[in-house]
Amino acid sequence: MELSVNIDHIATLREARREDFPDPIYAAIEAEMGGADGITVHLRGDRRHIKERDLELLRQIIKTELTLEMAATQSMANIAVRVKPHCVTLVPESPGEVTTQGGLNLLGVKEDLKLYISNLKENGIMLGIFVDPDVEQVKEAARIGAQYVEINTTEYSKLDLKNVKNGIIQIARVAKAAKRENIAVHAGHDLGYRNIQALLSVTEISVFSIGFAIVARAVFVGFRQATNEMVSIIKGVK
Ligand code: PXP
Repeated sequence: MELSVNIDHIATLREARREDFPDPIYAAIEAEMGGADGITVHLRGDRRHIKERDLELLRQIIKTELTLEMAATQSMANIAVRVKPHCVTLVPESPGEVTTQGGLNLLGVKEDLKLYISNLKENGIMLGIFVDPDVEQVKEAARIGAQYVEINTTEYSKLDLKNVKNGIIQIARVAKAAKRENIAVHAGHDLGYRNIQALLSVTEISVFSIGFAIVARAVFVGFRQATNEMVSIIKGVK
């Protein structure tokens, strides 16, 4: 199991003062030194945190895999094809939302999304879709050509202790469905140091995408250590 660290909120801090620091590039290097297997950024339409400059520099500088989260628009596809991150995760995006609200709804999806996806794949980009924990969404993601799904863990992360088991059963069912469709399974959103452990039992998950909790912990212990603490949990290092 691998960890891709989402560094959007380093850029959020930078933009809070319209400064040129803290620099997300620096955070990415610290995350790699802490053992991260990848770096994720969400280039939003409103550019509220990550900018194209960040994406371009990350592509040149980091040694691990770069994942770009983005809305399925033509202008974002143009950027992805130019910068060529290793992976693109398609997410829904609405103006003004505090964070991504749920997975992309693929039911009744138009065939032009299929074309959109094949264009990115032809450019050597690994294509994934952020989906809610729902078997039908996973089947549809596979049908339109996704190579992985990222299962939305928001609902899981809000469960109280006595319901966590049911949440895990649901995610495991969806992860198994993805495997049957021959696509890889990532998971993310709202994961943190106190709710990741139980998810490790879903062995189909190959990558966790985690941002806010690591950035928040980094305020107290530094970005490298905050990353390393999460890596230690995920990789089972005592
Ligand atoms: N996965 C997706 C698709 C996201 O949109 C985000 C937030 O940008 C994350 C994972 C990371 O979520 P969090 O910051 O809550 O760890």
